[in-house]
Amino acid sequence: MVALEKIETAQGMAVRLEGVSQRFLLDGKPLPVLDHVNLDVAPGEFVALLGPSGCGKSTLLRLLAGLDAPSEGEVLTDETPVPGPDPSRVLVFQDPTLYPWRTVRANVALGLEARGLLRTQAHRVDDAIRLVGLTGFDSAYPHQLSGGMAQRVALARALVNDPRLLLLDEPLGKLDSLTRLSMQGELVRLWQRGGLTALLVTHDVEEALILAQRVIIFSPRPARITAELVVDRPYPRHRDDPHLVELRREALALLGLQD
Ligand SMILES: Nc1ncnc2c1ncn2[C@@H]1O[C@H](COP(=O)(O)OP(=O)(O)O)[C@@H](O)[C@H]1O
Ligand SMILES: [Mg+2]
Repeated sequence: MVALEKIETAQGMAVRLEGVSQRFLLDGKPLPVLDHVNLDVAPGEFVALLGPSGCGKSTLLRLLAGLDAPSEGEVLTDETPVPGPDPSRVLVFQDPTLYPWRTVRANVALGLEARGLLRTQAHRVDDAIRLVGLTGFDSAYPHQLSGGMAQRVALARALVNDPRLLLLDEPLGKLDSLTRLSMQGELVRLWQRGGLTALLVTHDVEEALILAQRVIIFSPRPARITAELVVDRPYPRHRDDPHLVELRREALALLGLQD
């Protein structure tokens, strides 16, 4: 990825969850998924959400993206209840879900196109492609990309909207370990440009500690916040930093994975 200059972007969003619970109906029976979650994230903060599979992490991100409404409690961005989906709050999934018949450029342009902004703001497509290091691949089709490149396209498709809240749902989960390591660094650099609040769901303790300023740990379903670790280390971080090694031990113990 290219070195990134600071570019003018909006300030990151403040996030607040107040007593948020979510229940689904499964075979006619209520399934509690989130249990009175309270969380505050400052504008521009990078927070990781760590918890066992199926505890409710994706459910929480969907609430913040405005794709679902909570059963109970309030989901607020900038002190205002989230009314529904909006390009300022974007969700990036594990699976890049690109349109196979569209080029990289046309995939990245989708958001602007849908909002009728493509004609006047086409330069934002170039910016987003450059930011994720895919310059020169504009006219490639998804089948011509590696897994890491496809995920970069998905990131660019999110960034083209100039979001103020980036919701990352295990975005590196399907990548091979080397690609994953390099993209962790890229995510940090994207966030360091400023203007973004980032919430990263992961089940990888190391990834959480390498990327986030704060790691929130959830219980098994229904998810409650059980602990919070502050990762007060400068970037770029190194896996063998003794402080991170200690935090890793702590996080694993909190997750009940180490005695
Ligand atoms: N729309 C839905 N209807 C019923 N159950 C759901 C729905 N969405 C998620 N769930 C259930 O909620 C639980 C938490 O899911 P999810 O948030 O995806 O977990 P995580 O992302 O932490 O692995 C799971 O048991 C899942 O089956
Ligand atoms: Mg999930």
